[in-house]
Amino acid sequence: MAKILVTGGAGYIGSHTRYFLEKSGHTTVVLDSLERGDARAVPEGMLRQVDLRDSEKVKQVLREEKVDAVIHFAAYAYVGESTQRPEMYFINNVGGSLSLFEAMLETGVKLVVFSSTCASYGIVDKVPITEDQPFAPINPYGESKVMVEKIMEWLDKFRGLRSVRLRYFNACGGEPGSGLGERHDPETHLIPLVLRAAETGEPVTVFGDDYPTPDGTCIRDYIHVSDLAEAHILAVEYLLKGGKSDAFNLGTGKGHSVKKVLAAAERVTGRKAPYTMGPRREGDPPELVADAGKVWKALGWRAKRAGLEEIVRDAWETRRSSEPNI
Ligand SMILES: NC(=O)c1ccc[n+]([C@@H]2O[C@H](COP(=O)([O-])OP(=O)(O)OC[C@H]3O[C@@H](n4cnc5c(N)ncnc54)[C@H](O)[C@@H]3O)[C@@H](O)[C@H]2O)c1
Repeated sequence: MAKILVTGGAGYIGSHTRYFLEKSGHTTVVLDSLERGDARAVPEGMLRQVDLRDSEKVKQVLREEKVDAVIHFAAYAYVGESTQRPEMYFINNVGGSLSLFEAMLETGVKLVVFSSTCASYGIVDKVPITEDQPFAPINPYGESKVMVEKIMEWLDKFRGLRSVRLRYFNACGGEPGSGLGERHDPETHLIPLVLRAAETGEPVTVFGDDYPTPDGTCIRDYIHVSDLAEAHILAVEYLLKGGKSDAFNLGTGKGHSVKKVLAAAERVTGRKAPYTMGPRREGDPPELVADAGKVWKALGWRAKRAGLEEIVRDAWETRRSSEPNI
């Protein structure tokens, strides 16, 4: 069993991963600035409130905590915001990661799992998406993740920093009974927005119903956050056992349209999920679905909670029961 530093562990995916790491017997410590996270998502005594860009403080945490590896979630993650303030994304996502890697190299911690994204592929011609498709991000958020992935390749080659880069598709849901959930501020993810519409009666906007898909709305690959958490544990264990650096998609391999998500939300909640139809949003590809074959072969991971209804049910349950509900 290892001791793992979870950056961004007070955020949505990081807090779930910290929860599953503890359940599987690892010890954890969370590093988070709390700028966009919630301290209540981290158990008492496990949080080091530090900004990643403060490399001296990060080094101090690494020296004091004597961790074996890092799982690095901390970043800004709003595509829209990244188009309004690109510099914020490069400073935090790239600068923060560089500061972390420098601190890791200086303190002799050489294993890292990184949160990357399907946004690094941009608009694709071929679905499902395999990892060998070229990087072609269409927004500064995606570009910031590509930059970090490239930095990691160089640090592997010349400094021995071994890494697994995990490119998530649409993270969603929550782990029932964990006290954790999803509520970004502002919320931009479809499932919580649809559930909020069912809760409040305020319609959610659907961006376009004239795409070349069976019902005209965009298709996405929705991946349960608990499945994501388990993939991170397998990835860090793979590195601890000497696995070499690599990048993997994390998705279910199955896509669902916006209209299907709305219908699933109505079945799960027993309420109407009202929506208004808006125009297409710039840069939204019609369909994004992962080919998750590579991670199955390398890490033995595949999504276990892949049914849309199950995902929406867990999102609904954790939304209504979780305290921090971040
Ligand atoms: N949610 C998704 O669907 C999705 C998809 C692909 C990739 N990702 C990536 O996964 C990671 C986690 O996403 P999330 O949805 O949990 O986001 P989140 O905003 O809920 O969590 C991010 C956490 O990082 C912290 N943080 C940000 N900058 C920091 C800094 N400089 N120093 C210390 N802490 C800092 C925030 O306070 C927050 O707690 C991000 O890197 C994101 O880009 C998310």
